[in-house]
Amino acid sequence: MTQEQQNAFNEYMDELLADEKIRQMSKFIQHGNTTCLMHCKTVAYYSVVFAHKFKIQVDMKSLVRGALLHDYFLYDWHDQKLGNLHGFRHPGIALKNAMGDYDLTEIEMDIIKKHMFPLTIYPPKYRETTIVCLMDKYCTLKEFFGNLFKKETCNA
Ligand SMILES: [Fe+2]
Ligand SMILES: [Fe+2]
Repeated sequence: MTQEQQNAFNEYMDELLADEKIRQMSKFIQHGNTTCLMHCKTVAYYSVVFAHKFKIQVDMKSLVRGALLHDYFLYDWHDQKLGNLHGFRHPGIALKNAMGDYDLTEIEMDIIKKHMFPLTIYPPKYRETTIVCLMDKYCTLKEFFGNLFKKETCNA
């Protein structure tokens, strides 16, 4: 990333993270030891790095904001009372929450609504959504297996 892109990334992140509402995501665990907020910040970072690495033209502000809000569902999904439908339902819940708290662009809405594709049936409309879809899965795998890999490294 160029310095200019890094500065823009930091600006978009800081602007949204200055808001108390989005920081509620730090109360909930996403995977392993990772909170929802950490997960979303990591997905935003890798999404921008991915777009840069493969020279994909993106609306960086929407990419960052959509990635940061993609799991803005604000509950503990490990709670068994919620049943097993979290995977299918949380994009819609996150979108409803985000629309209630923030002014979203079309791209940001598409990212939040469709980030679980192909588990949910609606395919991405924008390249920013496709990138977040991919990086969400990549980060989820890292969070699930991160400790395992660390352990193997330590024992080697
Ligand atoms: Fe999600
Ligand atoms: Fe996610």
